[in-house]
Amino acid sequence: MTTTTTRPRSYLVRTMGCQMNVHDSERLAGMLEAAGYVPAATDALAEERARAGDTLAEGADIVVLNTCSVRENAADRLFGNLGQLASIKRGRPGMQIAVGGCLAQHLRDGIVERAPWVDVVFGTHNLDVLPALLDRARHNAAAQVEIEEALKVFPSTLPSKRESAYAAWVSISVGCNNTCTFCIVPTLRGKERDRRPPDVLAEIEAVVAQGAIEVTLLGQNVNSYGVSFGDRGAFAKLLATAGRTPGLERLRFTSPHPAAFTDDVIAAMATTPTVMPQLHMPLQSGSDRILRAMRRSYRSQRFLGILERVRQAIPHAAITTDIIVGFPGETEEDFADTLRVVSEARFASAFTFKYSPRPGTPAADLPDQVPDDVVAERYGRLIGLQERISTEENQRQVGTTVDVLVAEGGGRKDGDTARVTGRAADNRLVHVALPAHVGPEEAPRPGDMVRAEVTHGAPFHLLADSGLRGGTFEVRRTRAGDAWQRARDGAHDHGGAAGAGGTVRLGMPRVR
Ligand code: 5AD
Ligand code: SF4
Repeated sequence: MTTTTTRPRSYLVRTMGCQMNVHDSERLAGMLEAAGYVPAATDALAEERARAGDTLAEGADIVVLNTCSVRENAADRLFGNLGQLASIKRGRPGMQIAVGGCLAQHLRDGIVERAPWVDVVFGTHNLDVLPALLDRARHNAAAQVEIEEALKVFPSTLPSKRESAYAAWVSISVGCNNTCTFCIVPTLRGKERDRRPPDVLAEIEAVVAQGAIEVTLLGQNVNSYGVSFGDRGAFAKLLATAGRTPGLERLRFTSPHPAAFTDDVIAAMATTPTVMPQLHMPLQSGSDRILRAMRRSYRSQRFLGILERVRQAIPHAAITTDIIVGFPGETEEDFADTLRVVSEARFASAFTFKYSPRPGTPAADLPDQVPDDVVAERYGRLIGLQERISTEENQRQVGTTVDVLVAEGGGRKDGDTARVTGRAADNRLVHVALPAHVGPEEAPRPGDMVRAEVTHGAPFHLLADSGLRGGTFEVRRTRAGDAWQRARDGAHDHGGAAGAGGTVRLGMPRVR
């Protein structure tokens, strides 16, 4: 149980890494609040500094770092952050520091060995122990390290505090049964564990009842959903059923694996109106030789075949991908294959990564590591090509009508033009100009929908300024906008930092 003090203890969860961690952090925040902690007040400046990489700790009694090991130098960054926290902690007796996530799972006791001022270390399989470990560390005045090898409690069954009122992430599986040789995920997140469909559907219903109109189903490899309960067609069925949830307007998923991608999923996407015309499917490399070395069992032809079938069934689908440049042994010829596949695939956008060896992965020990300057030069060519394609594809959107789900905090002001920002159905980022006659009362709130016509396509966003010229501009107030407003009014009433004021997290899984 939490020790009671005169005032409630405040917490701050700082998240590094991918959407899986963002999702876990929502659980950590939910559990801490259920245990009586309150969110630490943060101001915009501090948030800004945190985004720039500083650890944000002012005012928090408990700081939780939810770490990631995908980024290069992840451990150095973590210990750098912990160093900053050490000096803050010295000035604030009673403050506690907890470290969780993939890097904690990896480094275990190594964290308190190098940073003995850390109070709690927990892994990716036992988020649920955090409040108990904080109590125990306080009571025993000693660091507590607890790492599990396998999952005990599925994270989605833990209480959650969601970041946005209008969009929710619902996890359908954790872990991964693949063995891509560059990837640390199987080591750190373990074998795939699937949640049962009724549990997933119940969570979708619950978040929709709280005001969400968009749900993204989350798993390392969503296409293999069902392996652990013996139903190969489970993902397609889940999409179709989840898509019929009353009140749900937009359903997305991330990420599929090309090897396991089957046509029943394409059919479910095409025939379920709430499944959005969008697909994020990692290519990783266009060279079949490199794909084999990566131990990814599809070949580039199969990948392109899937895109063709998706586009046949869903003509306006925007397809995005992940690509790694400079995997060990990659020759100029292999890289040329990647450029060729990228040219043919016409991705709406791509997340591009320079290969970086993760200790403990098979590829890290391969002999032919590609020199940094070669990787950098290839990387430059790849992003140049993709940027050209993204620009062309975005310019092709000019003249089309888009429905934009307005995001929080994304408003921009260019000169005299006020804009709101959000995602189109195909997940493209759109800035929509508000016509001068739209007052604060009629302006769309985060969670509301705006319909406008695209007037400009840039490499990474669209402008939809038709409203400025008397053209299409329609606002539809939604349940999600109402929920956002209630959260904001509630936060004002309580003078707290809860609810609406947080960071905007748009779209794709990110490794930043
Ligand atoms: N080096 C570079 N990129 C990587 N990714 C995963 N591991 C590595 C690595 N060792 C990229 C992959 C994956 C994305 C989330 O991160 O492209 O799809
Ligand atoms: Fe990693 Fe994805 Fe490969 Fe699984 S499928 S090993 S999570 S890259």
